Amino acid sequence: MTETDIGGPFRAGDRVQLTGPKGRVSTLYLEPGKRYFMHKGMIDHDTIIGVDEGSVISATDGGQYLALRPLLEDIVMSMPRGAAIIYPKDAAAILAKADIRPGARVIEAGVGSGALSLWILRMLGGTGSLTSFERREEFAQVAEGNVISVMGEKPDNWNLVLGDLAEALPEQHADGSADRAVLDMLAPWECLDVVADALKPGGILLCYVATVTQLSRVAEAIRATGLFTDPNADETMVRGWHVEGLAVRPDHRMIAHTGFLLTARRLADGAVLPNLKRRASKSDFSDEDVEIWTPGSLGDRQVSDKVLRKRARLAQRGAAITAEKGRDQTGPETSQTPDASDAAVDAGSEPQGESE
Ligand SMILES: C[S@@+](CC[C@H](N)C(=O)[O-])C[C@H]1O[C@@H](n2cnc3c(N)ncnc32)[C@H](O)[C@@H]1O
Repeated sequence: MTETDIGGPFRAGDRVQLTGPKGRVSTLYLEPGKRYFMHKGMIDHDTIIGVDEGSVISATDGGQYLALRPLLEDIVMSMPRGAAIIYPKDAAAILAKADIRPGARVIEAGVGSGALSLWILRMLGGTGSLTSFERREEFAQVAEGNVISVMGEKPDNWNLVLGDLAEALPEQHADGSADRAVLDMLAPWECLDVVADALKPGGILLCYVATVTQLSRVAEAIRATGLFTDPNADETMVRGWHVEGLAVRPDHRMIAHTGFLLTARRLADGAVLPNLKRRASKSDFSDEDVEIWTPGSLGDRQVSDKVLRKRARLAQRGAAITAEKGRDQTGPETSQTPDASDAAVDAGSEPQGESE
């Protein structure tokens, strides 16, 4: 099967997806004269060759099997894997956010199992180019096998490069010659310099990372280069639905987390990004809230002497109340109900009625 085969009767060599009576799916390549054995019965490949896609085939045990050509989504989810793949929901978002389009010159690293390479190559449709970097040879081989088995041959516009992106990219792409760069790797921040050199002004960098620590690190590293627009981050969640009669509800299970997408655009050489307002409005959050949620994110704030004196008084009052409680509990007449000022000190806020 090649990427151009859409619809029409099944031919020898086609990949066929058979869905059985209990919804079990199996995939086979059609070969004249061959037989496909199930749990009980079997199907001659020749009974599938020549019939229309979407036909129901009977096995020798009477089991009914729906025959369809698998979609790319089905193929990437079941193809051999070296490394973890980018799921179709994220691949779709990457194609949109990185604005991958026919004619674009795209860089990708690492290749892993080639799942994202397949989506990008499909979007390019034989135009432009995709240069894919992978530092592990066995992963590159898995990816190459997967791409060829879907595309029918190694596409002319695909260059699979074995090597570390940080070293190999400058040898493959002249400065300012790439339109898009998609990084799916553990430490994308290590490759930002070479990617910034390769990208054209206005080109898009998209980083796909699995954890918030990677997200934060790569976002700050992108900012620190001064060569990109402020990065945008998001994630894609897809929740399936069960729709049957009156039972219409979300599926009980979903893939809740795969990764985060971070995009930024290459500035023109010498361009300095104007200062953008980044903080949320004062009415939504106080600086104190932000400091508690993300310590240090606001930098060192100057605290006035007056505020400090007030905090010292509060802390001392809290200490005095605690000491008094301790005396009461060890003495003969114990038990004191904490009053509102106790609670306020415990919570770190100001007791009511306090005025400066
Ligand atoms: C999660 S996998 C990529 C999966 C791929 N996007 C897919 O959809 O199948 C990450 C890959 O990046 C490769 N890698 C990590 N750092 C790299 C680097 N600096 N240069 C090239 N490849 C790298 C790893 O060897 C691994 O195969």
